[in-house]
Amino acid sequence: MNVGLKTQILPANEAAVTAAARCLTEGGLVAFPTETVYGLGTDAANARAIARLYEAKGRPSFNPLIAHVGDIGAGMRIASFNATAQKLAEAFWPGPLTLVLPKTSDCAVADLATAGLDTIAIRVPAHSIARAILRAFGGPVVAPSANLSGHVSPTSAAHVHSDLAGRIDLIVDGGAVAVGVESTIVGCFDTPMLLRPGGVPRGEIERVLGRELARPAEDADTDAGQPLAPGMLASHYAPRTPVRLDAGSVEANEALLAFGTASVPGAEAATAVMDLSPRGDLSEAAANLFGYLRALDTKGARAIAVMPVPHHGLGEAINDRLRRAAMGR
Ligand code: TXA
Ligand code: MG
Repeated sequence: MNVGLKTQILPANEAAVTAAARCLTEGGLVAFPTETVYGLGTDAANARAIARLYEAKGRPSFNPLIAHVGDIGAGMRIASFNATAQKLAEAFWPGPLTLVLPKTSDCAVADLATAGLDTIAIRVPAHSIARAILRAFGGPVVAPSANLSGHVSPTSAAHVHSDLAGRIDLIVDGGAVAVGVESTIVGCFDTPMLLRPGGVPRGEIERVLGRELARPAEDADTDAGQPLAPGMLASHYAPRTPVRLDAGSVEANEALLAFGTASVPGAEAATAVMDLSPRGDLSEAAANLFGYLRALDTKGARAIAVMPVPHHGLGEAINDRLRRAAMGR
């Protein structure tokens, strides 16, 4: 275990970018902001560094990782883009969309990072600091969300620090992220598939493709067998406090995760109240989601009651994460 490492924290600037690139070159572990959540990056071609990364996250198994690249050209060196992939890359990169594609035969990414699959997940992040680090490093960087396995994804450097201090080399602090939920993952198979709802709403992707995205079979969502996107496992997003969904009232010793202005009975007696978006804005709610879950998880409440959140647009990703949080670990 890497516990005992000295974890440096640098404000996001040119010096931090240089330090991050050097650290990656040396096989180090660097947490950096992307527009979705903070990522824990390491050199995608360095199997030893990737093994350290899994160890630092405390991952129970070697889930496949997303390779972050600077542009579509760099993506094409590690994966084959079919027509679907090209359309989506042109429409949404840089941005919160990950494409699952066949690996090229000379793909430089270590097999450990793709968990032995013959496909690879790729994305071009939009965050200026992530892009600067990728440019300075010059190769693909694998980066899962920078949280301990089983915790919700980090949306600030403080979240990263509380999970991973002493386990990683460097945290680049770029402030709070903009999107707040992870990237949408689309499998660019013969039938394009929505593997994980996320920062790009399904409807926008379907509009570009001119067709509906398929959903993987429900049984892909269980521990049985190899799921298409193992991140869909129920345990992925659970806080320690039980989560109660679609709450119409707050019960004794519950904390409330609210949405919108409507008040619910019992709210005045709640252990704590946080409102994802008082004005009912789904992108604001997404940006607040993981930080508020983390904060409410520390209040010693018996449960976190969550008011209903609409399902359209980013609401699909928000409800997906809430459902996983409610399944517990
Ligand atoms: O927004 C994001 O995507 C963030 C930032 C840091 O980029 N990253 C992220 O990574 O959420 P992670 O490791 O927490 O989730 C990656 C997901 C997992 O569910 C994994 O199973 C899936 O991507 N995945 C990776 N490679 C895959 C593949 N070849 N086929 C299917 N799913 C894959
Ligand atoms: Mg994650």
